[in-house]
Amino acid sequence: MVRKFPNLSKPITLGRVTFKNRMFSAPMGGTDITNDGCIGPKSVGFYELRAKGGAGAVTISECMVHPATDGSHAYHLDESILNSLACATYAADAIRRHGAIPSLELSHSGMFAGTYMTDKSKQKSMHQWGPSDTVRADGVPVKALTKEMIAEIVASYGHVAGLAKRAGFEMLMVHGGHGWLINQFLSPLFNHRTDEYGGSLENRCRLAIEVLKAVREAVGPFFPIEFRMSGSEFVEDGYGLDEGVRIAQMIEPYVDLIHVSAGTYQKTFGITHPSMFTDHGRNVFLAAEIKKHVSKPVATIGGLNDPAQMEEIIASGKADIVYMGRALLADPFLPNKVMANKDEDIVRCLRCFTCMAERAATSTRRCTVNPLIGRECEGDVIYPAPEKKKVLVAGGGPGGLYAAYTAAKRGHQVILCEKEAQLGGILKSEQALPFKYEMYQLSLTYAKMAREAGAEIRLNTEVTKEYVENEAPDALIIAVGSEPLVPPIPGLKGDNVVVVNNYYLEKDKVGDEVVVMGGGLAGCECAIHLAMEGKKVNLVEMRDMLAPDANVRHRPLMLKRMEELSDNLTILTGHKALKVTSEGVVCENPQGEEVLVAGPSVICALGQRSRTNVVNELYDTAPFVRVIGDASRVSTITNAVYWGYHAALDI
Ligand SMILES: Cc1cc2nc3c(=O)[nH]c(=O)nc-3n(C[C@H](O)[C@H](O)[C@H](O)COP(=O)(O)O)c2cc1C
Repeated sequence: MVRKFPNLSKPITLGRVTFKNRMFSAPMGGTDITNDGCIGPKSVGFYELRAKGGAGAVTISECMVHPATDGSHAYHLDESILNSLACATYAADAIRRHGAIPSLELSHSGMFAGTYMTDKSKQKSMHQWGPSDTVRADGVPVKALTKEMIAEIVASYGHVAGLAKRAGFEMLMVHGGHGWLINQFLSPLFNHRTDEYGGSLENRCRLAIEVLKAVREAVGPFFPIEFRMSGSEFVEDGYGLDEGVRIAQMIEPYVDLIHVSAGTYQKTFGITHPSMFTDHGRNVFLAAEIKKHVSKPVATIGGLNDPAQMEEIIASGKADIVYMGRALLADPFLPNKVMANKDEDIVRCLRCFTCMAERAATSTRRCTVNPLIGRECEGDVIYPAPEKKKVLVAGGGPGGLYAAYTAAKRGHQVILCEKEAQLGGILKSEQALPFKYEMYQLSLTYAKMAREAGAEIRLNTEVTKEYVENEAPDALIIAVGSEPLVPPIPGLKGDNVVVVNNYYLEKDKVGDEVVVMGGGLAGCECAIHLAMEGKKVNLVEMRDMLAPDANVRHRPLMLKRMEELSDNLTILTGHKALKVTSEGVVCENPQGEEVLVAGPSVICALGQRSRTNVVNELYDTAPFVRVIGDASRVSTITNAVYWGYHAALDI
């Protein structure tokens, strides 16, 4: 066959190992780790899914090499722990049996030990070891590693590498980036040593090289070793791309692949994990520059999810391999789809950070667009239902569409009714915000999936009690969503007011000076967009805090974006709206005074409420009824999709 993406689909050999394509799965922590540091079955399922989806290599995330001086990435490989080697072997096996190469990332978090602990207060009772004595920004003291300790850590890299090879891993990634221990030694920001491990670049690279030599000694000459580095730290007093190039040149003799990532976890999170406010592939230039100065293969990463862009990266010689993290959570089958010329079926990552925020919130993983993530052991195959039923889905938002797709895949006769002329529900409004366009596209992708699975879609069709009784389905999934809250504030129904959900339809009504009422997620993101368009925006919010509904990873990046736009965007928290006039919104300020917040155009973003009246009307109309998404509780797309998927499986 003629492959549409021949470069991405081409095998590559590193050491003596051949990888079936150039699309590798980046390390992303599995969260099921047993109390004694073994990789649990749910994590194995998490990694296996990406192997099944066709990635050339799947990297198991940070294996802590020296627990005595670390304590962040709880998973480790230690033959004194019953089951440790066995679990690693099962994990490597699960990847290998789908034709992907299992790789293990070896890591030490150094002065940031404890970062991933759910109970952060425990960090204070640990010892944090780094290149130099210091006190972290959060007040945790850091002690400088002695040379004896460095030697012990280096030896432990070798020891763990040997165990990993024994377990069946066929590549090892030494983590030298993102602000962890090896990066801390490379970085002039963190490393203030005056011995042979500090000062000159040669000295700062010493630890990395000693580690790589120890790993090489343990695994032999033909076993691929990869060094993950930040091409630039992107922080003041850290190293930039010039030094990144020199670091790559210094470690080149000891590795088979140079993996160029960016930034540090602690200081430039939104660069290491490019957010929706940045370009896809914003870090590719780092790999491209390094590649000009080395002869070993180079990998790139960062916000990549578009096969055409990734193909171009390899075709034009900017890198030899593309790594993906979040894109393979959104759609683990992306590599298989690329190889099969089915790129149009890819479910794209939204860069919404649900994946990373869920870890912080619940110590598990989820993905907004993929209900299986973190729950892979429940099985990724949608099996045919034993008995075919007639299923009616009321509502064509993301939850309803995913439910329709899943039910149709199971062989049920599915009818999805949407009362509006267009599918997508609340996601329709995202088409007006370029940085959220992929969220709108998600509804198109889900609609395509539902149609191709055999669901019949009826637009402009409102589901009423009579409608259901007439159709007489065996199962009804109520996914009618929510409606905007428009409280009885005088003037809020005026002609100068646009409800945020309708902005995509009425954007011409919005002039150059705008008041956005409501500093929840929707209001903040709309304000960002309007400010990016050059409008003068006043954002008023009654509470003291903006967007408490945003997840813990997205929120700080969103607030930072708002700060960057502060020439055009004024934030007024603690302001209670009293009335809307043709000149703006009259508010009560925190001092209890009435003030006019100017802006003849007004956006109303005051929240959503469930369409409970519709739910109540439909509840007793079919033998099986399930209410999902916002119709059940105003919530996230993540929940809507997850509940929709499971509603369809339960029929
Ligand atoms: C859920 C999640 C977990 C991650 N865990 C790790 C990890 O354990 N080790 C690591 O080196 N990077 C980790 N990363 C960073 C990714 O490997 C990758 O560098 C980053 O997400 C940027 O790639 P992307 O834009 O394709 O997601 C993680 C990223 C995500 C999204």
